[in-house]
Amino acid sequence: MLELFAAIAKLALYVGSFAGAGVAFASMSLGRRLGRSAEVAPKLIAMAAVVMLAAAIAGAAILIARLGGQVDTTTLSAIWETPAGPAIAFQLAGATLLLMSAHAKGSMLAFQLGGGVVALASFGLNGHSASISELTGAIAFLHVCAASWWLGSLLLLREAGRVLPEPDLASLVRRFSMFAIVIVGGLVAGGAFLTLTLVNFGRSEWLTPYAQALSMKIVLAVAVLGIAVWNKFLITPRIAAADGKGAQQLSQSIGIELGLFASVFVATAWLTTFNSPHA
Ligand code: HEM
Repeated sequence: MLELFAAIAKLALYVGSFAGAGVAFASMSLGRRLGRSAEVAPKLIAMAAVVMLAAAIAGAAILIARLGGQVDTTTLSAIWETPAGPAIAFQLAGATLLLMSAHAKGSMLAFQLGGGVVALASFGLNGHSASISELTGAIAFLHVCAASWWLGSLLLLREAGRVLPEPDLASLVRRFSMFAIVIVGGLVAGGAFLTLTLVNFGRSEWLTPYAQALSMKIVLAVAVLGIAVWNKFLITPRIAAADGKGAQQLSQSIGIELGLFASVFVATAWLTTFNSPHA
């Protein structure tokens, strides 16, 4: 039962940290072209930070319950000595920074970016990848940063599809696509590297329960990529042509992409809670 609660807390942690950090990263990279759609960013960041804080506290409580349920110095120092302790500290610090800087402007935006980086660094400190080497931990960190930017951009683009006139939306989508080619390419390359590191393809029975769960996650991630390619080649030209339907189609397809993103999070929370690559 505790394992199930741990998976649910992890899912909430993914949603909160990826959305909060991602909207901060995307606001910075898409800049002024977001126009009025940028007005939704502070609310999104604050909501996501609250979800992340709650998830980090729940994760810590579950860990304490697993260790016998006593909140004393022995339990706390046992947690601190494993990578889970510093990871929880990073999650709490990142979420607090994001919450406090949600409405930041100008040079104070550095705190928002810092909050996002600190929050996501927790995934490079703790987890299957981090347990192998510092390099694989760093790649996992970059992998989640890229996925987070993508999620944050989608949340802002959906709002842009609602409030921006089509010529402004076309210019925003062009800027997003320019970054997306590099960042999503990096996400896939990082994911492929982690897959090759975590799955022992040299073993005759390499399709372990871990590899099966990972395959499910990759299939869902490839479906998100498929929708992104559809957007790029079929919907973006319609927005540029300003035929009146492009913005609506973009919002619909982003809705599907966000649903698939949620399913990738569910699959990953399951994968990282119930399966071990070393089993
Ligand atoms: C929509 C795209 C994607 C999203 C949102 C996503 C998200 C994530 C998240 C949240 C983690 C877990 C971090 C942790 O808890 O330590 C992760 C790890 C990982 N991802 Fe992705 N990912 C995506 C695409 C991919 C792709 C395309 C691949 C493979 C080619 C991939 C392979 C991996 C691997 C192997 C791990 C490590 C799993 C483990 O720790 O056991 N990911 N990803």
